[in-house]
Amino acid sequence: MSTGVTAPGPAGKPLVGSFLDLTHRPLRTFLAARRDYGDVVRFHAGPPGLRAEFYAIFSPEGVHQILGSEAANFRKDNAFYDELRTSVGNGLLTSQDGDYQRQRRLIQPLFTRRRVDGYADAIGLEVQSLTERWRRTPDGVVDAADEMSRFALRTVARILFGADVEEAVAVVQRSFPALGAYVQDRGYAPIRIPRHWPTPANRRGAEAQQALYSICDRIIAERAVRGDVDADDLLALLGRARGEDGERLDPAELRDQVLVFLLAGHETTATSLAFALHLLAKHPEQRRLAQQEADSVLGGRAPTAADLEELPYITRVLKEAMRLYPAASLVGRRAVAETVIDGYTIPAGAQIVIAPWVTHRHPDHWDDPDRFDPDRFLPEQEKGRHRYAWYPFGGGPRACIGQHFSMLEAVLALGVLLRDFDVEVVDRRVALAQGITLRAASPMRIRVTARGGGS
Ligand code: HEM
Repeated sequence: MSTGVTAPGPAGKPLVGSFLDLTHRPLRTFLAARRDYGDVVRFHAGPPGLRAEFYAIFSPEGVHQILGSEAANFRKDNAFYDELRTSVGNGLLTSQDGDYQRQRRLIQPLFTRRRVDGYADAIGLEVQSLTERWRRTPDGVVDAADEMSRFALRTVARILFGADVEEAVAVVQRSFPALGAYVQDRGYAPIRIPRHWPTPANRRGAEAQQALYSICDRIIAERAVRGDVDADDLLALLGRARGEDGERLDPAELRDQVLVFLLAGHETTATSLAFALHLLAKHPEQRRLAQQEADSVLGGRAPTAADLEELPYITRVLKEAMRLYPAASLVGRRAVAETVIDGYTIPAGAQIVIAPWVTHRHPDHWDDPDRFDPDRFLPEQEKGRHRYAWYPFGGGPRACIGQHFSMLEAVLALGVLLRDFDVEVVDRRVALAQGITLRAASPMRIRVTARGGGS
């Protein structure tokens, strides 16, 4: 039985509650809610009769309860995860219960540190082709968001598909943005039109989904025919993965995993990298320190996994970029049973939002939260900080499986780019949009100038 009290929150507009604020400016609305109401805030959203109540939780202690100590009580049963599941299938990000346990058992061994370190060559290849592109840019002005999105997609696709990378990238580049927009619109909509109705949005969503399913199915089928005994990309490893009793992923499950990895492993890393570059382009002192480190560690050679340990400053830059611009800036759940968080009752069935965007700026946990300062992540500064004051990769049993891979990719890429280029800001202010991931909603241009000496 709960001993909590009802959480405070905004009344919102008469007919729609906070619906418009939450759909049009969720980041600003949640930041203001913490300031005005505290660490647990109750919102109403939607038209009368369909009004939903949900709770936003901002304290690290509350986040720990949701992701960690009471994780079983907070399920991925909200509208957003439902839409994702219908669009990209029942893979590791979206599945639950027995399916999830089975998948995680089979897939976890493919993400050990040793395995992931083996992907450094693919990262090196893709960053090399990026630097070549940048050298050919006539005025040196590039959009950091576009460039990093292309780079991160190519890298995760190369790791998944190996030799079949070009074919897959072309389809994903065409279809993923449309599918992402469809999922996002439906996830936020107060009323969801059935997917089989022939509306233009449903048609676009179905076409994008079909294109992605087809390319994955085709590559999987071709490999089955070839009997890919030698391939060592992630798709081949997923196909060969066996549990203790011989359990394996069937072709449809294999495709769902591939789609989830493309989705979860592409715009997220791209966002971190783009904001890290943009922040460095705006902060010459931190840029100089990062460049010194890149020059002395990487010299003129291709990066290796061992370099990660040798690039602590660049790692801190990325962590700070992920604090200020967490790619998964809002994360949702649904409470199964009633519970109490920070003294407030969370009713059974309540929709929950946790917000790295807000907790990462929580003034009780971060001094001068809006200032860019990579040294917040020096070991002595991290000591004593609450585990969930910074959680860009989530936490608990459903924490990000790609965490080490994405840090490896982002740190090595940033190292090579800074070694080879000077970066200056062109668009100082960048508008933000919260889609499936956080992203730039206005140009994010930087000027890149080749430095002497690098490879
Ligand atoms: C900066 C980069 C990344 C960020 C910020 C990020 C963030 C997250 C977060 C917050 C979650 C938890 C979601 C939740 O609790 O609802 C998650 C889960 C997940 N991520 Fe990532 N991610 C990143 C990169 C990647 C990469 C590169 C991959 C794969 C190659 C990946 C694959 C996954 C998967 C499969 C899950 C679900 C894990 C599970 O439930 O067992 N992520 N990620």
